[in-house]
Amino acid sequence: MKYGYFDDKTREYVITRPDTPYPWINYLGCEEFFGLFSNTSGGYCFFRDARMLRLIRYRYNNVPTDSGGRYFYLRDNGDASIGNASIGDVWTPSWMPMKSKLDRYECRHGMGYSRISSARNGLAFSQVSFVPLGDTCEIHKVTLTNESGAQKNIDMFSFVEFCLWNANDDMTNFQRNFSIGEVEIDGSRIYHKTEYRERRNHYSVWAVNVPVDGFDTDRQTFLGLYNGFDSPQTPLNGKANNSVASGWAPVGSHHIKVDLKPGESKSFVFVLAYCENPEDQKWEKSGVINKKPANILLGKYNTAEAADKALAALNDYWKNLLGRFTVDASISSRPDDIKMARMAGVWNQYQCMVTFNMSRSASYFESGIGRGMGFRDSNQDLLGFVHLVPERARLRILDIAATQFPDGSAYHQYQPLTKRGNNDVGSGFNDDPLWLISGVAAYIKETGDYSILDEIVPFNNDDKLADTLFIHLKRSFDYTVKNKGPQGLPLIGRADWNDCLNLNCFSKTPGESFQTTANFESGVAESVLIAAIFVYNGPDYIELCKRTGRADEAKYAENEIAKMTDTINKYGWDGEWFIRAYDAYGKKIGSKECDDGKIFIESNGFAVMAGIGIDDGRAVKALDSVKKHLESPYGIVLLQPAYKEYHLELGEVSSYPPGYKENAGIFCHNNPWVTIAETMLGRGTRAFETYTKICPAYREDDSDLRRMEPYVYAQMVAGKDAPRHGEAKNSWLTGTAAWTFVSISQYILGVRPVFDGLLVDPCIPSGMKGFTVTRHFRGADYHITVDNSAGAEKGIKSVTVDGAPFNGNVLPVFGDGKVHKVVMVMGK
Ligand code: BGC
Ligand code: NOJ
Repeated sequence: MKYGYFDDKTREYVITRPDTPYPWINYLGCEEFFGLFSNTSGGYCFFRDARMLRLIRYRYNNVPTDSGGRYFYLRDNGDASIGNASIGDVWTPSWMPMKSKLDRYECRHGMGYSRISSARNGLAFSQVSFVPLGDTCEIHKVTLTNESGAQKNIDMFSFVEFCLWNANDDMTNFQRNFSIGEVEIDGSRIYHKTEYRERRNHYSVWAVNVPVDGFDTDRQTFLGLYNGFDSPQTPLNGKANNSVASGWAPVGSHHIKVDLKPGESKSFVFVLAYCENPEDQKWEKSGVINKKPANILLGKYNTAEAADKALAALNDYWKNLLGRFTVDASISSRPDDIKMARMAGVWNQYQCMVTFNMSRSASYFESGIGRGMGFRDSNQDLLGFVHLVPERARLRILDIAATQFPDGSAYHQYQPLTKRGNNDVGSGFNDDPLWLISGVAAYIKETGDYSILDEIVPFNNDDKLADTLFIHLKRSFDYTVKNKGPQGLPLIGRADWNDCLNLNCFSKTPGESFQTTANFESGVAESVLIAAIFVYNGPDYIELCKRTGRADEAKYAENEIAKMTDTINKYGWDGEWFIRAYDAYGKKIGSKECDDGKIFIESNGFAVMAGIGIDDGRAVKALDSVKKHLESPYGIVLLQPAYKEYHLELGEVSSYPPGYKENAGIFCHNNPWVTIAETMLGRGTRAFETYTKICPAYREDDSDLRRMEPYVYAQMVAGKDAPRHGEAKNSWLTGTAAWTFVSISQYILGVRPVFDGLLVDPCIPSGMKGFTVTRHFRGADYHITVDNSAGAEKGIKSVTVDGAPFNGNVLPVFGDGKVHKVVMVMGK
């Protein structure tokens, strides 16, 4: 069943009933202030770091699910004289938390904003929520409209529950927390200032742009001690208590009386903001916070028109960003191609922005507490983002590189606020360093900006250890060269891309981290995947060396790549597919010799992406084996057969019940590797099939099974061994976003930045009649029309550029700010 539809014109997903199979969320904010916003107004927001600077409280894994957010309670006092049925009726227009029966409901998730509209008993409500560009706040513009024939008198109560900043402490340290909560109230502005008296120089403010009839800031007073969000005593009584929180749980609630004539509308601008003061200007007077930054910020958004203007600016921002890569498949008119265009042109890129901003830190599956920015994750997220805002990708690369150690290894994660490596997780994931080469190469291919290689970047955030970014890349490359196992394949360390292949862990202790424990540092366990990633990055590294006058380094790299390729050929091939790894005893993993885990997806996709076995038929064999053994209706599972019991020598991969996560789940991130590999073999129909199977828009009708949002990728879909085969989990924050965008835009549609220009080399299903892509690239716009009336899968018959015949398919860098028309005819 469907729970909504795509509105392609407005770039919105329109949810038409509130009880979606799971909360379907959106992200507000694209710079420094972010909100998670569900289709029932649930969620929370934070400044920069979801753990350290969280503004409002959100209880994960709560019952009922998704309780807590920015809520509005409406109490309809009707008109007693005409005996209106709505008298005394209290309801929540976002459906949750009261699960109010609504006469109308719609939630439109758009680019950086969401709009909930609903109605009950002749009172219409609309809430548009977003984070304005350049400011650290959420705006919620609320409009009430009287659609009935009689006067309506409404009591509106806003409600947020403040988080005491550090989300981890907030949920654990109650002996202290229940005594520290503090607020200040100034008219319509409710300031949350817990810990401001001591070491914090920031507070938050929950404000509305009209005078209020009362307020509450103490949770118990507002709700009643034994009441939930669904039965708050204050709205039920219809009167605020003007409570001032002191300890316990500070909240923010405004009470506004709204009188509406028939047909009349009134709008209110609610703002939830984060404000900072310089250390020496914290106080206005003793005990009174300096409200200057709040006054400035709130002054900007104190009218409905100002809020509308800020939303319009946000819309322009997104229109412009998404204008950098657009797809139109209307020439083809197959429904499948239309879905592809909507995903590749809009939602996939939007998700790439979110994964770039969040890495794996804050979603409805990531609590914002556990994981900061991943080294490998952020480098891969870049791949799908760099064309949108290359300048930000550049800064990110420099931040990531600064967490690398002098020997080339890297902190696995870093905290976004401090940009320091996370000591608890440390390093030792031996694939990490290589992803820096992928990220930098993608940035340079996009921009042509080689100067980034000369940037001086610290190692381990220590300026005394700084060197050029190029040297960072060399250390990455050398790290693999210097850390090989007995057969010459790279040592895996704690794990490679597959965080759950913990071959030196040997954990018998419940609760011990699979990722950070090494009970048996074998110095033996090797990864074929890291070998393939090394070979895949080889040509880019060599090119960077050559293009920056480092011929000797290029020679050395060529030689190392050749050696590694030989090693893969010798120890990485199993007869029908590529082996995955060797364990701490030198035994094969991902081989026909194994009982379970005979074949894995990752090494097969990546080896072919690295070009291995393409000229001798092994690549075809490997991908055919993937199809034969790992295929399912919902995508390609990670391995088969699933591990049925826990293997000490394998680690977390065997800890999951069969069919979930890395143990034979459809771990979507690696599916596009197979897609890309298929295009390298020229099999466009198959490539597209692997693309569509994990693509959420193709499963919109199947939402009861899939459960996650039909507009974004999920990290995992339960595999064929799982009872819930086809059910997705962990939506939003996944490397799937970047890699599918790379697979569809660069390899299927085939518009791929290379060092010397923009390559166009489509590999599409024979049934796709053609498409148009517009691509902004290094200062010019390329308007590319591909005509596939020949029904080809790959191959180019002719190309014209601005009307003139063109030789080859690498379009030059025009850089002239103009639009260039490219027509490509596929065929022989
Ligand atoms: C998950 C992985 C994840 C790892 C590190 C594991 O439990 O299965 O997907 O990467 O934890 O957080
Ligand atoms: C999620 C992690 O964020 C990512 O780094 C890892 O590659 C995958 N899980 C696979 O284990």
